[in-house]
Amino acid sequence: MSKIRTAFFCQNCGYETAKWTGKCPSCNQWNTFVEEKVQKEIPLRQQEWKEDVKRVNKIVSLDEVDAIEEQRFLTPDGELNRVLGGGIVAGSLVLVGGEPGIGKSTLFLQNALLLKHLKILYVSGEESEQQIKMRANRLKINNEQFYLLTETSTQTIFAEIKKLKPDLVIIDSIQTLQTPLIESAPGSVSQIRETAAEMQRFAKETNTPVFLIGHITKDGSIAGPKVLEHMVDTVLQFEGDQHYAYRILRTIKNRFGSTAELGIYEMTGDGLRQVTNPSEILISQREDMLSGVTIAATIEGLRPMLVEVQALVTQSVYGTPQRTVTGFDLRRLQLLLAVLEKRGGFHFGVKDVFLNIAGGLRVEDPSIDLAVLCALLSSFEDLAIPNKVCFAGEVGLSGEIRAVNRIEQRIAEAEKLGFEKIFISKYNKKGLDFSKLKIEVVPLGRVEEVYQLLF
Ligand code: TYD
Ligand code: MG
Repeated sequence: MSKIRTAFFCQNCGYETAKWTGKCPSCNQWNTFVEEKVQKEIPLRQQEWKEDVKRVNKIVSLDEVDAIEEQRFLTPDGELNRVLGGGIVAGSLVLVGGEPGIGKSTLFLQNALLLKHLKILYVSGEESEQQIKMRANRLKINNEQFYLLTETSTQTIFAEIKKLKPDLVIIDSIQTLQTPLIESAPGSVSQIRETAAEMQRFAKETNTPVFLIGHITKDGSIAGPKVLEHMVDTVLQFEGDQHYAYRILRTIKNRFGSTAELGIYEMTGDGLRQVTNPSEILISQREDMLSGVTIAATIEGLRPMLVEVQALVTQSVYGTPQRTVTGFDLRRLQLLLAVLEKRGGFHFGVKDVFLNIAGGLRVEDPSIDLAVLCALLSSFEDLAIPNKVCFAGEVGLSGEIRAVNRIEQRIAEAEKLGFEKIFISKYNKKGLDFSKLKIEVVPLGRVEEVYQLLF
């Protein structure tokens, strides 16, 4: 019996020390150290999923390595394929984070049930078999090749995996897993690190893709050590506003594809529905013209998306004016207000400003700036902007309208949706031929010009 040792782990970043410290020397957080039992000398570390195969690694030249294309298989869910960079890669380890109740379990149960040609193992440490059955009934999908295991010990899980030999494993969630090699409680830093490492070895050695569902802490990062994110191949984040039905699956890290990707779903009474044409739902169907409403031609990932921006500017009642945003960066709003104040002479300092991106979406594309600025102006002046007009441009500190990427795609999407006019940066116009377009393209140089052209 080897000696049990304890160590202190930072619950934020996973830093290990022998003594308790108030401040983590690695991530500078206070009061994050918790004592956990560790067993350094692990007697016999078998790989439970495999019969003894001795593999000796030696140096090879890159030329000697057989170039095999990474094997991928597509799921019936186009949005998931998209965020994974074109389907699930064999042997990959994918971590999916999200707030409780956002729909992580629903998303993966639904996908597992839809992958009918594969043998799927869904390991749940959070819900009972009956609960999962009830959810599957609610989703109204049947799959005989879908296997369920409610277990938290990795030893048992690997023993079952060895018997079943699944093509895909889903773990719900990594925080419930427990390896018998470590004594500390499930969800602690050392447990998460060790169980994730076991899953990683399993995925790589058997070429089976593994999805790990993870909880999220209050500040929005995935609970557990940062090393967890380094260990996995792909990190996805499932997010959305609890009060809206729309959910977004975002790529945070991807060894097999771009991180700019985005999948959109709608939570319905019987599961998540893919939203393949986001523009149609993100623009409210309105006939009349309202002040403070503009449409931005944004691109998230590879997909152009028209998004509605709503602003409300009112006289401030209290000494300090309020600035409230949903789906937009508050500092970015303050910057745009400062630009309007300085370059246009609009006194926003005595106004309350509320800004909303429709649908509960969070847009990170800077090209939304111009639409936000015009929505603010429109509400300030209480003058409506015509319905069939949209915007795509970034606003610089000196009030210049800057060029944005992939302008042709944005314009094409706007035209497809029946828009008649799009305002863009004049720097985007260079070298492009807009003569064949039905939509009118208006180039802008500075924010001062916006006002004259709009009102
Ligand atoms: P769940 O997948 O349990 O979330 P997570 O695993 O991220 O904690 O999602 C649960 C929520 O989704 C719950 O509030 C009910 C809702 N829901 C639907 O609206 N429709 C459905 O078909 C299902 C299965 C769940
Ligand atoms: Mg869940």
